[in-house]
Amino acid sequence: MKYVPERHMEYPNNLDMKIRKCLVYFLGMSILFIIWKLSVIETDVEKLQFLKDTLYLNKEQLQLSHQQLILIEHLYQTKLGKELPMIYAVTPTYTRYVQKAELTRISQTLALVPNVHWILVEDSDEKTDLVRNLIADSNLLVTHLNTKTPVIEKLGDKDPRWKKHRGVTQRNAGLKWLRSNLELNKDKGVVYFMDDDNTYSTKLFKEIAKVKKVGVWPVGLVGGLNAETLILDQHTGKVVGYRSGWKADRKFAIDMAGFAINLDLILSKPEAQFSYEMEKGFQESEFLSYFTSKEELEPLADNCTKVYVWHTRTEKPVVKGIVPGLEV
Ligand SMILES: *[C@@H]1O[C@H](CO)[C@@H](O)[C@H](O)[C@H]1NC(C)=O
Repeated sequence: MKYVPERHMEYPNNLDMKIRKCLVYFLGMSILFIIWKLSVIETDVEKLQFLKDTLYLNKEQLQLSHQQLILIEHLYQTKLGKELPMIYAVTPTYTRYVQKAELTRISQTLALVPNVHWILVEDSDEKTDLVRNLIADSNLLVTHLNTKTPVIEKLGDKDPRWKKHRGVTQRNAGLKWLRSNLELNKDKGVVYFMDDDNTYSTKLFKEIAKVKKVGVWPVGLVGGLNAETLILDQHTGKVVGYRSGWKADRKFAIDMAGFAINLDLILSKPEAQFSYEMEKGFQESEFLSYFTSKEELEPLADNCTKVYVWHTRTEKPVVKGIVPGLEV
């Protein structure tokens, strides 16, 4: 106990005491109210809902973080028996002028998704402060990894985008993390390769949560088309072909942004990886071949009639001068 000189004890600050009394009284009443309320509520689920609502209502005073609120929601949904599967979004990223803008857009989309674990993999020898700061600001559940693309595989500044595989090493690092940290039959989820240059609707994540084995959907603004999509059989609703701007005869003519895979499959096929050996433009097709067949694909987004992800491209800015002291 703190030492207080005696003369102060004799003349307590009256106003202070009154406020304190008020607070104690208020707190006591609140607790009594909560206990009473809990005793009249019949079911566990209702009790949990009441506690959850109370915590949400007082989140400012209790200084609950976004993460803690997500956890509370998650517990509640589990109790209801309709918990959403965790979506593991694997994002390769690399240093360039537009990196922070791209990652800001992506992270703020993810902030609207309750059930997401972001696996952000930097193409670098060291983790950068820019990405570290962005993660700290995001309040998201993030695993931050880094691994450098081998020099001979790296796309040169003047090379066209299709010339080399992009993100291979980083996506594989994401897969490796999943396989070393999660357990088959214990952890449940869906894995999505979420590049940092696309635009994602929050509706996409509701579709991803439905994936049983491999889910597919249209991708906007890709392959020289307004959208690439799946061709479905009118009667069975199954995938029978692809509307793709490039080599639609691939086994799976689907863009990286156009599919998600159940975590069980990812964990039970540890040999499935991306590779520099694969033919250019065949990463998706070869990777998907490990897990499924065309007939088994699950068409989502209202039978592939909705576009929830777009291959937007941020123009490469011409930067002629650097303002010092600004992280842009
Ligand atoms: C999708 O197509 C199948 C089969 O053609 C049909 O049974 C189902 O109702 C459709 N679903 C939606 C959301 O349109």
